[in-house]
Amino acid sequence: MNKEIHFPKNFWWGAATSGPQSEGTFEKANENVMDYWFRTKPEDFFNGVGPTVASDFYHHYKEDLGLLKQIGFNSFRTSIQWSRLIKDLETGEPDTQGITFYKNVIAEAKKLGIELVMNLHHFDIPVHLLQKYGGWESKHVVDLFVKFARVAFEEFGQDIKYWTTFNEPMVIPEAGYLYGFHYPKYIGKGKEAVQVMYNINLASAKTIALYKSMNLPGQIGIILNLTPAYPRSDSEEDLNASHFADDFFNRSFLDPAVKGKFPETLVKVLEKDNVLWDSTEEEMEIIYHNTVDFLGVNYYHPKRVKAQEHPEKYINPWNPDKYFEEYEWPEARMNPYRGWEIYPRALYDIAKNIQDNYGNIPWFISENGMGVEGEEKYKDTNGNIQDDYRIEFYKEHLAWLAKAIEEGSSCFGYHTWTALDCWSWNNAYKNRYGFISIDLETQKRNIKKSGYWYKKVSENNGFLY
Ligand code: NOJ
Repeated sequence: MNKEIHFPKNFWWGAATSGPQSEGTFEKANENVMDYWFRTKPEDFFNGVGPTVASDFYHHYKEDLGLLKQIGFNSFRTSIQWSRLIKDLETGEPDTQGITFYKNVIAEAKKLGIELVMNLHHFDIPVHLLQKYGGWESKHVVDLFVKFARVAFEEFGQDIKYWTTFNEPMVIPEAGYLYGFHYPKYIGKGKEAVQVMYNINLASAKTIALYKSMNLPGQIGIILNLTPAYPRSDSEEDLNASHFADDFFNRSFLDPAVKGKFPETLVKVLEKDNVLWDSTEEEMEIIYHNTVDFLGVNYYHPKRVKAQEHPEKYINPWNPDKYFEEYEWPEARMNPYRGWEIYPRALYDIAKNIQDNYGNIPWFISENGMGVEGEEKYKDTNGNIQDDYRIEFYKEHLAWLAKAIEEGSSCFGYHTWTALDCWSWNNAYKNRYGFISIDLETQKRNIKKSGYWYKKVSENNGFLY
């Protein structure tokens, strides 16, 4: 084809990881929910591998940031672990070792000229707060989170220019309260899921309010996993199903974050079904007045939805599945290594949606990536993984993104998931996503073919396609 794909000046090239998935649990002040889950039920984790060592970023951060520089990164996202930074969760008293560690990481990134995007919550609530207060079901926990954020802003606010409050907040109600694949592993707790979703929105808005009140030299946003919900047909039933799936799984965070209010159609349904959250007018005002400066979008795969055939099954207890059902789209192209649909055009659709319906707020792709199970088999004789499939995946997605930018989208960067192979919760190291592989026995790092390719893309601010 040989078309030149180009990106705007100062475009971000980088990737994301998170504290709990990369650091290891060394010298932590508190246990987070994932640490606890692994300690008490290691059999839930692929090959029994937990977060204890992970990719040992705690000890390798200098080497790792150096590698990122080497493969062309100008920016990188990670997160501060609440359970590492804060010693006393009630008073917000910080842990000095935690402060030192994050200061060191920040200084190293600065030295290398890598813009750090710092996220505050990545599925890692301190387990004590879950056990004592029911975690995100509690508004007291909302306030404790804001105390943690204050410490982070006070300690690092002069050096970090881009903050985000939450990563993929929808996963917390979805995985923890509806479908049971993350701790606390509840299934079908619809009412609680809705409250958790609301409380996290409130926590994000309160954190933004605090940040703004501190007059720091940066910006604050949120990272959302957007999964466009494509209807099976144009029938009214299927369109309603896709509308609801979009309201519940995308817009329940997107709308409050950008517009300061929840979609009316969603509120109506939740009210009718008697599962609406508990809120006060004052809280709604806080949400209304504290929207984000920018948006991070994580995109992996779309949802294919049709009308629910058995709504009666989901009434008591309430479940969002009452209003839609996923189905297999016959034309879907699947990732043969991981089983998720590959649909690059969705990036264009997401960009258009932000442009047309969300005031074209500045945004970036904060995660996009291809997980591969058993990736060692693509190693060449030098031990370097030849991941041509991943390069193709990125090219296809970037081409759609470039088209949207050409048409006026305000996307300012592209971060993949992930930089170095990292620990992915209960899937542990099953699906590898990185530009750089890690040998779990030796902790040796090796740049994959995609890492060398990315370096060129970043240097040229584009590629031939
Ligand atoms: C999104 C999440 O933010 C990250 O924690 C996870 O590992 C990746 N998806 C891959 O599943």
